[in-house]
Amino acid sequence: MGRRPIVMANWKMNKLPDEARAYIKDVAAVVQAYPDVEPILAGQDVLLQTMVDAAEGTHIEIGAENVYWKEEGAYTGETSPKVVASLGVQYVIIGHSERRHYFRETDEMVNLKALAALKNHLSPIIALDESIQVVSPNAHMHWIVNQVIEALKGVTNDQMAQVVLAYEPTQAIGSGMAMNADLAQKDLYMIRETVSDMFNAEIAENLRILYGGSVKPENVYEIMRQTDIDGVLVGNSALDPDNFAELVKLAH
Ligand code: G3H
Repeated sequence: MGRRPIVMANWKMNKLPDEARAYIKDVAAVVQAYPDVEPILAGQDVLLQTMVDAAEGTHIEIGAENVYWKEEGAYTGETSPKVVASLGVQYVIIGHSERRHYFRETDEMVNLKALAALKNHLSPIIALDESIQVVSPNAHMHWIVNQVIEALKGVTNDQMAQVVLAYEPTQAIGSGMAMNADLAQKDLYMIRETVSDMFNAEIAENLRILYGGSVKPENVYEIMRQTDIDGVLVGNSALDPDNFAELVKLAH
């Protein structure tokens, strides 16, 4: 069975509740014609209930942008994966490059969050970044492979069916310049091989891996046609509902 493609918008810290509702209404009308593509929208915690309600009855899935690794307790300001799941949210981005850089999230924190998401039946979309300081090919490979190994520590074979990985080269995020699709393919192949070594070939074959970084309607086809790229994680371009709908059409 083939891997179902994903087109995912990460709204980051954008949109008011009314804008979120209007966006979902617009997009739902178009994407229903493409059920073979899985459309996912990720928004701020305070928008999640609005988003879940607006997406009801459509095949649009909703994702959070982050969760804490504890389910409850005295952790002021943090968000529980248990509560996020109880809203009807299916996905959560873990370890986004902006979380790693601005909020100092480490590989260990990413792993704890991924495990907590899985325990609470949220599918983690684990983001792998690439530091611009990583210059030599060996260092580049080591950096990525190491992030995969650290992020997936303790994840069971069964749980791997719920995991999605997303590779986002830091310099491509928000720059308008996506990574060359052939080079991205090489990195995603390496990620899949690492998963095969850690788990087994079947799990690696079924795993969905996304590319993120300046994806837009103009380049999505070239990116999506790569063998190991199963979807895209999109920031800026996907803030516009027409662009998002177009990305779904082009990924189909
Ligand atoms: O989560 C999305 C990524 O950070 C990509 O953002 O499409 O604005 O480059 P971008």
